[in-house]
Amino acid sequence: MGTTRVRGNGDADWDAWPVVDYLAENYRRLHPCDIGVIRHHSAVYRDCAPGSLARTLELGAGPNLYPLMLAGAASRRIDALEPSAANLRYLRRQLDRGPDDSWQPFYALCRSLDPALPGSSTEALRPVRVVPGTVDDLVPGTYDLASMNFVAESVTEDFDEFTLLCDAFVHAVRPGGRLLASFMERMPSYRIGAGPVWPACPVDEAALRAVFAPRTTGLRIARVAKDRTLPEYGDTGILLLTAKRPATGTETPATATPTGAPAPQG
Ligand SMILES: C[S@@+](CC[C@H](N)C(=O)[O-])C[C@H]1O[C@@H](n2cnc3c(N)ncnc32)[C@H](O)[C@@H]1O
Repeated sequence: MGTTRVRGNGDADWDAWPVVDYLAENYRRLHPCDIGVIRHHSAVYRDCAPGSLARTLELGAGPNLYPLMLAGAASRRIDALEPSAANLRYLRRQLDRGPDDSWQPFYALCRSLDPALPGSSTEALRPVRVVPGTVDDLVPGTYDLASMNFVAESVTEDFDEFTLLCDAFVHAVRPGGRLLASFMERMPSYRIGAGPVWPACPVDEAALRAVFAPRTTGLRIARVAKDRTLPEYGDTGILLLTAKRPATGTETPATATPTGAPAPQG
């Protein structure tokens, strides 16, 4: 009997990410789960004075504009770090020509929740720099806040790699810096449209706590119910995370257990 090989991040062709189908399935209209994520994230940015964050990160930005819009009031420079040529093309076009009309309901919601956001989405996106690269290009301690939406669990089947990706995400912020993230809950490897299977590792709240509790302070995990208006990705909902990198450097070093399970909570 053959064993199925675990597919890592490097085994997928991210340059060929199906932008059009991904947007059609997830972001061409405001889904109930988006409302939950935007509500959660906007509370974090409302807690930051306008313009108080010198530099923030959107890790694996993809073609999703609403996390970038949300950061627009608090951040003076937003780095949208993204490896995929297809996503980079889409992001650059959106920033050059202004966001597609389909993003306007997203922006209206963001602005209704955070009045510090400017009148137009184009203005909110002005601090965004599109940065080609991967998690491996992150320089520790660079950012005041790092945000990551549907990336660490959606880009590898390897739990050790998931852990290392989350570790780099935590260390991307300065000591005391803020972390904001969302994860598909228990999602196995998935298809977008009729395309290839993309690698994912199913994570639940316990797995997130095992990875983030030893590395952060003030860890909070919330949940959005499964959204049945989305295609069936096999998930059970969305997990939303806030935390801070410890100010004193007391966190444990990057480790991945040999069993492939997330590092145990220390
Ligand atoms: C499921 S998509 C999520 C996109 C977007 N953040 C969102 O909210 O819809 C995963 C994203 O992670 C990016 N990605 C894949 N490998 C990566 C890596 N090693 N470092 C950073 N981003 C990566 C992909 O190109 C893709 O844009």
